[in-house]
Amino acid sequence: MTPHPNFKSSHANPGFGLGLRTEHYEALLNGPNAGDDVIEWPIDWLEILSENYMVGGGKPLHYLDRIAERYPLVMHGVSLSIGSSDPLDRAYLIQLKALAERVRPKFISDHFCWTGIAGRNLHDLLPLPQTEEAVQHIARRVREVQDFLGQQILLENVSSYLRFQHSTLSEWEFISAVAKEADCGLLLDINNIYVNSCNHGFDPEVFIDAIPRSRVQQIHLAGHSHNGQLVIDTHDHPVPDPVWALYAHAVRRFGAIPTMIERDDHIPPLAELVAELDIARKISAANLPRMAQMVPA
Ligand SMILES: [Fe+2]
Repeated sequence: MTPHPNFKSSHANPGFGLGLRTEHYEALLNGPNAGDDVIEWPIDWLEILSENYMVGGGKPLHYLDRIAERYPLVMHGVSLSIGSSDPLDRAYLIQLKALAERVRPKFISDHFCWTGIAGRNLHDLLPLPQTEEAVQHIARRVREVQDFLGQQILLENVSSYLRFQHSTLSEWEFISAVAKEADCGLLLDINNIYVNSCNHGFDPEVFIDAIPRSRVQQIHLAGHSHNGQLVIDTHDHPVPDPVWALYAHAVRRFGAIPTMIERDDHIPPLAELVAELDIARKISAANLPRMAQMVPA
């Protein structure tokens, strides 16, 4: 599957995107100045929630096709359930592949999690035991998915509020091991790293410093909420300062990585998110290592 030709990423401009939300359909199609179809929003690509478009037709696909004419798309799923002990859902994979053939995404991603058991979808990104057994189990399934799709996938680190007592690996050791064993990419969610560092008590820079540079292909930025003793991954606030600071650290380590902002609740006008995305651009530009210093690890 050849990615959309308009998806551009370079050292100078890794590409900065937003999650596509229904609230912004018309604004995206109309451009920042209503009636002037020449001026585009300064958005390099949009990330769609795959499951919203795995349908037979109607409004979602109507808008998807029109927006895809203007912006490159990447796909992000929540139902692959890569960590479950259920067999992979063939019907889901067939629909996922059909959608990928429609939008030709640069990236297809899902999460390091399980979402159901015995055929039931619990609609939550549930945490995994971080063990060598789980590494092998997930890597085997990722390879099967990649073979079926004919494309490498990315897996995203999730926020979590508990750990399994029998975990033997740190989260950064766990996701790095799966990526190596499965030969898949990583979607690093900087907010989730920050949230987990608060909830589980680790240094978030240690997490970032341990991830192999060559595996990181996309970055998520988002906001969170403090709820008593826990930090919750709510995606309903602008990106806060500690997450921006951690993003700067990630850029210094990984270099130019396509980056996007996720907002899932209290969704503001598109112009506000575009302005927030400009902060990401500035932080990235200010922290990019010189090319000569970029050494794979
Ligand atoms: Fe995310």
